[in-house]
Amino acid sequence: MTTKSKPAKPGRTGPSLGATREAVKPFELVKRFTATSLTVIFAATLILSVIITHRARTVLLQKSEEYAILLGNNLNHQVFLQFIVPVAIKFGRVQLRNKIQFDLMDKVVRATLHGFQVDTVHIYDPDNTISYSFDQSLVGKEGVGGEEYRRALEGETTSRVEEGGGWLAIMLGAARASKLRTWTPLLAEEPLSSNTGPVLGVFEIVQDLSDDYETIFRFQLLIIITSTGVMGVLFIILRRVVERGEAVILARAEERIKLEEQLSHAERLASLGELAAGVSHEIRNPLGIISSTAELLKKRTGGNESSGGLVDVIIEESSRMNGIVTDFLNFARPQTPKFQKVRLADVIEKNIAFLDTRLVKENVSVERHFHPATPEIQADPNLLYQSFLNILINAMQAMPEGGLITCEVFPSGGMVHVHFTDEGPGLEEAVLKKIWNPFFTTKESGTGLGLCMVRNFIEAHGGAISIKNAAAGGAVVKIRLPAEGPAGAEQGPSNGNHSHRGR
Ligand SMILES: Nc1ncnc2c1ncn2[C@@H]1O[C@H](COP(=O)(O)OP(=O)(O)OP(=O)(O)O)[C@@H](O)[C@H]1O
Ligand SMILES: [Mg+2]
Repeated sequence: MTTKSKPAKPGRTGPSLGATREAVKPFELVKRFTATSLTVIFAATLILSVIITHRARTVLLQKSEEYAILLGNNLNHQVFLQFIVPVAIKFGRVQLRNKIQFDLMDKVVRATLHGFQVDTVHIYDPDNTISYSFDQSLVGKEGVGGEEYRRALEGETTSRVEEGGGWLAIMLGAARASKLRTWTPLLAEEPLSSNTGPVLGVFEIVQDLSDDYETIFRFQLLIIITSTGVMGVLFIILRRVVERGEAVILARAEERIKLEEQLSHAERLASLGELAAGVSHEIRNPLGIISSTAELLKKRTGGNESSGGLVDVIIEESSRMNGIVTDFLNFARPQTPKFQKVRLADVIEKNIAFLDTRLVKENVSVERHFHPATPEIQADPNLLYQSFLNILINAMQAMPEGGLITCEVFPSGGMVHVHFTDEGPGLEEAVLKKIWNPFFTTKESGTGLGLCMVRNFIEAHGGAISIKNAAAGGAVVKIRLPAEGPAGAEQGPSNGNHSHRGR
C-alpha cells in the first residue's frame, strides 16, 4: 500500500504578508530615490556655496589689492610733494626722529588716507627700519620687513593675506581677523614729469578685510541654511506623500486579502453545505426507519421492562443523531433570516420554558434583567431561539453542580444588547483562541459547532457576538443586534417551528 502525503497548503499569513510587502515595494524605491536625490542636491548646494564664497573672496582680494596700489601711489605722491621736498629744503635731510618732521609726515599721511579704509600704514627706510607708523611703538624697529619689503625695495608691489582661526575656518571662509598687507615702494618723483626716481623707502599698507569676509561668510551661511531648510521641508513633504500612498496601498492589499479569505470561506461553506445536504439525506432516512421501527418494537413488546429499556436507548440515540445532523446542516447552510418584529425577552422566556425541567434537575436557576425600554427588533425569532438555546446549554454544561445564569437585555446606542453570564469555571486562554473554530470542543459528546452556528446566525442579523471571562468568574457571552435589522433586511413571516438542539 502506498501512502501519498499531500503538500501542505501555504498558511494564510505567509502569502498575505508577502502580498502586502509586494504592494509597498515601489514605495521603497521612491523612498530611496527621494533620500538619495535630496542628499545629492544638498551636497551640490554645499559645494556650490563654497565655490561662490571662494570666488567672492578672490574678487574682494583683487579689488582690495588694486585699491591698496592706488592708495600707495597717491600716498607716494603726497608724501613726496608735501613732506620730502619741503623737508629737504627746510632741514637738508629727512630725519623722522625729529618731532617736527614726524608730525608733518603724520599730518600728510593722515590727510591723504582720511576717509579711506586703511587699518595701519608703516613707512620703512632703505635700512629696513620703521621710520613712521600709525602705531608709535613700532617706530624705530629694525629688520622687521621681510621678503615683501626687499621686493618693494627693488620697485615691485606685493600683497599678502593674513588670516586668524583654524585651517577649517579659513577653508570654510569663517576666518576671524583677515588682513591684507600690501608693500609698495616709496619713489622719488621728478618734477613736471611722470618719470620716477630711485626708491626712497617702502610703504606697508594694512587693510582689515574682516568685515567684508564676514559679510561673505554670512551670505554663505544663509545659502546653506536656506537650502537645508528647503531640502528638509521637501523631504518631509515627500515622506508624507510616500507614507500616505503606502498606507492606501497597504489598506487595499489587506482589503483584497480579506475579500479573498471571505470568498474562500464562502466557497468552503458552500461545498460543505452540499456535502451536508447529501449526508443528511442519506443518514436521516435510515435514522427515521430505525426510530420508527424501535417505536413499533416498543409497542409490540408492550413496554416489557428488559427489552423496553433497550428500545428506549435506540430511540434516544437515534434522536440524538438526528440532532447532530440538524446541527451540521444549520452550520453549513448559509442562513437567511426571515425578519419580523421580535421581543427578545419573549424569545428568552421560551428558551427558559423549554429548558425548565432540565434546569430544575440540574439545580440551575435563571435570573432575568430585561430593561423595560428595550424596543422590539427586526429579527428572525427562530434563529435567535436556537442561538440563545445553544448559549444557555453551554452555560448549563459549564456548571454541572448547578448555579446561576443571568440574562440581561438592554438598549444602548441604537443597538439591543443581550448578555448571558454563568458561574462556571470560565475560559482558559487556549480555549478562547480556538472557540470560534468549527468542530472545536472540550466536551466528550459535543460537536464544537454550537458557537459557530450562533455566530453565523447573529452575523446574518448584522449583529456581533463575543465571549469572555466575566469579572466575577464564569463566562459572559455578549450579543449586539441592530434594532432595525441589517440594512436591506427583508421582512417575512416566521415558519414558527423551532428546531430544538438541546441534547
Ligand atoms: N459558558 C461556557 N463556559 C465555559 N466554556 C465554554 C462556555 N461556552 C462554550 N465553552 C467552550 O467552548 C467550546 C465550544 O463551544 P460550542 O458550543 O461551540 O461547542 P460544544 O458546546 O463543545 O459542542 P455542542 O455545542 O455541539 O454541544 C466548548 O467545548 C467549551 O469548551
Ligand atoms: Mg455548545
